[in-house]
Amino acid sequence: MDTVKQQSADGLTQSLNVEKIRQDFPILSREVYGMPLVYLDNAATTQKPKAVLDRVAYFYNQINGNIHRGVHKLSEESTQEYENAREVVRNFINARKTSEVVFTSGTTASINLAAYSFGEVFVHSGDEVVVSEMEHHSNIVPWQLLCERKGASLKILPFRDDGQLCIDQLEGLLTPRTKIIAVTQVSNTLGTVNPVKEIVRIAHNHGIPVLVDGAQGVKHGNIDVQDIDADFYAFSGHKIYGPTGIGVLYGKENWLEKMVPWQGGGDMINRVTFAKTTFNELPFKFEAGTANYIGASGLAAALDYYTKIGVSAATAYESDLIQYATRKLSEIGGIRIFGTAPDKAAIISFLVDNVHPYDTGMILDKLGVAVRTGNHCTQPVIDHYGIDGTVRASLAFYNTYDEVDRLVEAVQRVKEIFG
Ligand code: ALA
Repeated sequence: MDTVKQQSADGLTQSLNVEKIRQDFPILSREVYGMPLVYLDNAATTQKPKAVLDRVAYFYNQINGNIHRGVHKLSEESTQEYENAREVVRNFINARKTSEVVFTSGTTASINLAAYSFGEVFVHSGDEVVVSEMEHHSNIVPWQLLCERKGASLKILPFRDDGQLCIDQLEGLLTPRTKIIAVTQVSNTLGTVNPVKEIVRIAHNHGIPVLVDGAQGVKHGNIDVQDIDADFYAFSGHKIYGPTGIGVLYGKENWLEKMVPWQGGGDMINRVTFAKTTFNELPFKFEAGTANYIGASGLAAALDYYTKIGVSAATAYESDLIQYATRKLSEIGGIRIFGTAPDKAAIISFLVDNVHPYDTGMILDKLGVAVRTGNHCTQPVIDHYGIDGTVRASLAFYNTYDEVDRLVEAVQRVKEIFG
């Protein structure tokens, strides 16, 4: 992909040919209410490049046959595509082996799988699970359900008002009964990039495994699960330019081998009799039923596309763009920003004076600017600040400085209306 150095209005540098990149995403040229769409809800879901749309359409049009089942050509080709996709994912996150890459329907399913299958074996009455205060519900509730089922308890690592985790309190939370820590790499509400490698190091000093929720983190910089040394890493395809309904649970082989299956059905079995069933090898032991093999192939196309764009260049550009957005919004006056950690992904949560976030979101929508409003599936984060919710703008590498200006103008309009 060509890169172009451009100066934004206030001197920040952009190092991607964003105008060219935007042509790869058909939806970005649509209009809403007669205005060009400004899509700033990328933390909820990202848009898809043509490479992904074409791959999925081609698969349905030319290849589709159920995987791991038929002797016929279509089944064989579909299986090959699915397993190729697993290799693309393995390479993208730098897992040791494809057997450590389990396809799921998304981050939520990945964490539920881990909580159930790990928890059944390793968590017992009186044990403890640690999560942070800034997790989204998908990385709280599965652990709560596990704790309720097992008579274990959930302990919470808090965050400071600026949105940084109180890492200095982590060690004090750990006891011989702590069985696992689950923490997000990037907060979907505050944008904070957490020091997950440091968390893993502390946890491993105590012999405790760590699940890293990569829902937002997977597209923020190059992911290396071996370098982080995460025991588990969960993410969704749709948040990294891939299709919905496909996700990944990476797990270290030594844990996955010891864990029990999560769901029963086809593909996860070795031999079924009414007396006893034995299970398939990794990763198939955790992939019951017909997998979303076309979604997996679409995810592989997305990862290939993102790799071609340049993950580092995209992340650096997004970082410049969010700094620009933060500065411009702050200049308006009356804007409260939630999450001001020094290391942030391209997410900004804010409130405009005392205007309810839904009102702000609805006016922004009518001005063609798509943001998310509310609690962002992180009610404890919203409770931390004693507010009703926030307005959240989340950017991707296909967003532009002009689009940020449109956001800023729209927020100014909100102030005028409620002034
Ligand atoms: N977790 C997604 C978000 O942050 C849905 O919007």
